[in-house]
Amino acid sequence: MRYLSHLAMTVTLALFLSTPTHAQNPPAVSYLDGTVALSAAPDHSMPPIGKLLVTAPLRPLSREGDWLRVSMQGWTQAGAERAIYAAPGIRVLHAVLSSSAVEMLVFSEQIADPDTAQLWTKTELQGWIKTPDLKPSLRDIWARAEPLFAQRCTACHQRRIPHHYTANQWTSHLKVMGPRTGLPKDDQFLIRAYLQYHAKDADRLARAAVQ
Ligand code: HEC
Repeated sequence: MRYLSHLAMTVTLALFLSTPTHAQNPPAVSYLDGTVALSAAPDHSMPPIGKLLVTAPLRPLSREGDWLRVSMQGWTQAGAERAIYAAPGIRVLHAVLSSSAVEMLVFSEQIADPDTAQLWTKTELQGWIKTPDLKPSLRDIWARAEPLFAQRCTACHQRRIPHHYTANQWTSHLKVMGPRTGLPKDDQFLIRAYLQYHAKDADRLARAAVQ
């Protein structure tokens, strides 16, 4: 009997400790696997206000039917707020917006990129997306990216080494090499993101990334 009540207490304590504390912590970030249209409201009749790209780090805020309201943090270059990137000065593209969507952005801390002196602003975006494919970690997305890179980027030359180039150099290379693969745009974005997150400056990118 004593043993049983001790057991019951242990189980109760374990349940108490494992209860999630949503009230204090913001919802965890998931990563978008694919490209989706972004809307200002959960409504099909309204035109999209932009798109979110593969690897965009999203926090779910609320749900309505198939629609999910999400928040995303990133960085924008002062004067060019329609593109949201992963880190200041590192152009890993996470969102492309219409000019009307720029009015909905929330800006905070600003820093100067030491390499270029460009001003970058921490930026939060909120909006609605429909039935997104979200993954708990970037590794789940690389499972699809790695074979694409290995197979489609070796048709004409040897496999290039991701960390021989910076993330921004991969942006330029993919402008030329992406279309040469003949793959749909979404797959070209996926290969680009994979190479950028494994680039020479991947450490800097990881440090600036949202947890
Ligand atoms: C249809 C053929 C073809 C495919 C497919 C192709 N490449 Fe290339 N790539 C070339 C050629 C040709 C060059 C030589 C330079 C040039 O013509 O731009 C090259 C050069 C490069 C370079 C070196 C550029 C430099 O200046 O050092 C990189 C990096 C590269 N490719 C990456 C890739 C990646 C990544 C993919 C897949 C997304 C890819 N390539 C797919 C033909 C191709």
